[in-house]
Amino acid sequence: MGLLPKSIAQNLTILSSILLLFSLCDVARCKPNTTVKIVQCNIGTYTEGDPFTISLAYVLAELENVTPARQGYDFRDISPYPNAFAYGHAACNQTLTSSDCTACLSAARIAVLSSCDHRIGGRSVLYDCTIRYEQYPFDD
Ligand SMILES: *[C@@H]1O[C@H](CO)[C@@H](O)[C@H](O)[C@H]1NC(C)=O
Ligand SMILES: *[C@@H]1O[C@H](CO)[C@@H](O)[C@H](O)[C@H]1NC(C)=O
Repeated sequence: MGLLPKSIAQNLTILSSILLLFSLCDVARCKPNTTVKIVQCNIGTYTEGDPFTISLAYVLAELENVTPARQGYDFRDISPYPNAFAYGHAACNQTLTSSDCTACLSAARIAVLSSCDHRIGGRSVLYDCTIRYEQYPFDD
């Protein structure tokens, strides 16, 4: 009765290690899901050369850089320039790694900018992250 249970135990150990690897990959996931759920644009527009251009670029860049470094991956931001404010919010699914959050926000930025060209507000919701910007403060 000495040998057989031991080898079964070893096999079980190996099996559970394999299962653990699979489940870690599932929980931390190997890739963010960047499929776009919705994109919505404010109907208002701004023109080329409007100071809002610079404020928007500032906020979108900061959302993408700071959100993945924040606990909980949820970050609100306001541009620092006084003549045209851009307000922003970004969040990632908390199961993502920080670099996957960055990758997802990059996809979210491209999605909102390509659909909401020169719009004063826009939002993209992907399966694993979201970005929104406006010229006014907002809650969601
Ligand atoms: C993203 O998630 C949705 C909903 O669960 C699913 O239908 C879609 O296939 C997923 N896409 C990828 C690339 O995993
Ligand atoms: C985050 O990802 C997990 C694992 O894929 C999924 O079950 C969950 O619904 C996601 N949460 C959100 C808020 O999308």
